[in-house]
Amino acid sequence: MPVASVAPVTSVAPVSSVASATPIAPVTPAAPIDPAGLARSLRPFGESLMLPRAAYVDPAIFSWEQKHFFDGGWSCVGFSAELANPGDQRAVPVGGGSVLLSRDDDGILRAFANTCRHRGHELLPCGGSAQRPSIVCPYHSWTFELDGGLKTAKGFKGTPGFDDSQWGLIRLPVTEWHGLIFVDGSGKATPMQPALAELDELVAPYEPERLVIAGRHSYDAAANWKILTENYHECYHCPMIHPELCKVSPPRSGENYRPSGPWVGGWMDLREGMDTMSLDGSSLGVPLRGLDATGLRTVIYLNIFPNVLLSLHPDYVMTHRLTPLAADRTLIECTWAFAPEALDTPGFDPGYAVEFWDITNRQDWGACESVQRGLTSEHAVPGPLSPDEDAVYQFVTQVARGYAGQPPWRQPATTQPAEAAAVS
Ligand code: FES
Ligand SMILES: [Fe+2]
Repeated sequence: MPVASVAPVTSVAPVSSVASATPIAPVTPAAPIDPAGLARSLRPFGESLMLPRAAYVDPAIFSWEQKHFFDGGWSCVGFSAELANPGDQRAVPVGGGSVLLSRDDDGILRAFANTCRHRGHELLPCGGSAQRPSIVCPYHSWTFELDGGLKTAKGFKGTPGFDDSQWGLIRLPVTEWHGLIFVDGSGKATPMQPALAELDELVAPYEPERLVIAGRHSYDAAANWKILTENYHECYHCPMIHPELCKVSPPRSGENYRPSGPWVGGWMDLREGMDTMSLDGSSLGVPLRGLDATGLRTVIYLNIFPNVLLSLHPDYVMTHRLTPLAADRTLIECTWAFAPEALDTPGFDPGYAVEFWDITNRQDWGACESVQRGLTSEHAVPGPLSPDEDAVYQFVTQVARGYAGQPPWRQPATTQPAEAAAVS
């Protein structure tokens, strides 16, 4: 589907009217941050200011975000390909804790609170993985089915009043969307997929679920996760720090969408004669089969709140997954995925894409770390946004509404909360 066909995305309410809508009753406790500062961030675009400084440096705000943004709703925890087979298990960080993922015998992906129903031991250490036909607690060996049901509890057989069906793992909502895994750590969020319906139209032609990850980098950036996201959403800085990028893509090209769901994004053009984002603009891969002429001339940049950035190129998809480690530190896992037919090409080397973005990423992280250092000054006060920073504004207003205890974005009316439940 060409970019130009996504009229519904660009025809929703303009940014200024979204921000000035009637206040909504709080849905979560408000963050401990200056409400007057939030009100300034929520003014119409052109009059608004950035978030209060505390949003980037205060550990109390970071704790609130972990609880209400990362553990309190859907966040991206990895790729379907990392749990491709029945028996695959993986423990991943979500908010302040961790979640256990498993692929069951029917190929269904499951998510559980990573805590044993006996005395709470982690089922896998956070970041760990396993491949086995059941989930085994390493402490006293309680064993669970891949769908979370209790299989055996050593020494409890025949114990009066002990009912296996009462002691299954705590199941959490999980969904797979174009090869990405999202978990709702709260168990109470509205379903995610309906909220991404308009984004689906943009992403589907790229078939990210079909692509194969051929490049991977991890970065540990000394910057708040929001600074990294805000930087991603504007190219106002590109002429100053990205000579390589400006050579292949005009920094003022493209436009941003006006989303109504949990995302922000826009697109940029490739310069004439440039086929993709690489140091010389040439592609050593294969154009993605679902793209039309417009898709082959543009790069789409998307952020799904709160922690995944999707960059859709004519011949590859780059993903940044952000894991906040502290108010001033973020782990960034970056992957590059290509069509399987590209990997089958003799001599294929993903380096043309990986090298380009590794250079650009490091330029970005350097700028973001400097912003973080600058914001440690008590003299730092929120600044205004340029006309080219409208997508930053959209993200900032999502955050500000969330801080105010309101839904960060408009929710589809048809969705119902999904509850966490113990597996029986
Ligand atoms: S805490 Fe898991 S078996 Fe005891
Ligand atoms: Fe940049």
